[in-house]
Amino acid sequence: MNTPQEVCIVEVGPRDGLQNESFNMSIEFRVELINRLTACGLKFIEAGSFVSPKWVPQMRNTAEVLRCIERHPETTYVTLVPNLKGMEDALNSQVDEIAIFTAASETFSHKNVNCSIDDTFNRFAPITKVAEQNGISIRGYVSCVVGCPYEGKISTNQVVPIVERLFKIGCREVSLGDTIGVATTQHIRRLLLDVSKVCALSEIAVHFHDTYGQALANILASLEFGVSVIDSSVGGLGGCPYAKGASGNVATEDVLYMLDGLGVQTGIQLEDVVNVTEFVARNLGKSPQSRVATAIIAKRSS
Ligand code: HMG
Ligand code: MG
Repeated sequence: MNTPQEVCIVEVGPRDGLQNESFNMSIEFRVELINRLTACGLKFIEAGSFVSPKWVPQMRNTAEVLRCIERHPETTYVTLVPNLKGMEDALNSQVDEIAIFTAASETFSHKNVNCSIDDTFNRFAPITKVAEQNGISIRGYVSCVVGCPYEGKISTNQVVPIVERLFKIGCREVSLGDTIGVATTQHIRRLLLDVSKVCALSEIAVHFHDTYGQALANILASLEFGVSVIDSSVGGLGGCPYAKGASGNVATEDVLYMLDGLGVQTGIQLEDVVNVTEFVARNLGKSPQSRVATAIIAKRSS
């Protein structure tokens, strides 16, 4: 097993986390969250998405958020874009990287972006052209890599060709999304084995929602396969508006606690991230979801 010595955390809380929150969040809150995450030393932060506000109202004002944040030169600020309009908005907001997203399930694709998987790629063609012309790097997402809220089980045969296509059109990295958090380590091992036939696993990120409490185990299994990029969300915020019942992303602090224990370097201090979780919890008016934040906050106040 070749567990990496260093891992890159992609913080998706300000996008995947907040897109699923029902409270009416201010631009100031979103900006302060990103600034606090930047101050933690996170090198990749998903700052928002340029999608239709009719579909995901929580992500409206992403342009204003990007205008107001204090950018750190060593942090890459990423936004999701579904079509050329989103790409143009991302360009005007001077994002460092865009994330394009598709799925291994036809039904999920229709529910999420109102078109087939093939049509997501038709939309990507002009996006990637503009991104390349402007030196903006591209990350790709595949949703429902193990299960779909509408179609049930998804086989690795449905996932691998999508991963291959995303690399072919210029993605520098592809993130495998267990959108509804149903995977177990057995699924993940099989998936990574098959994906490794079409790309190096150093180009793969894993994106686990923690619905069934399997995310950390799945991350460990991924690390043992040599994956070294992990998507996570401060406080375990998140979910997908088009995947009912799916809970938040694995919490950044839970991942850090495990990585610290394994001696894997991230460049991020656990206590700093827990401070951000406390800030989020205060603003959302609810207790943190993650075990590690709950434990550390309880210890602090004892
Ligand atoms: P549509 O309704 O088929 O498209 O939506 P349309 O072109 O007919 O546009 C509808 C309206 O939206 C129009 O406005 C457009 O101008 C506007 P109207 O004329 O009605 O006033 N519009 C836009 N506005 C702002 N920015 C844009 C944009 N595009 C159109 N970019 C569309 C198609 C793709 C736009 C829509 O389905 C959509 O925005 N979907 C986004 C859904 C989404 O964000 N889902 C969550 C992210 S994916 C996820 O969470 C999974 C992930 O975390 C990985 C994992 O966990 O698996 C990444
Ligand atoms: Mg997600």
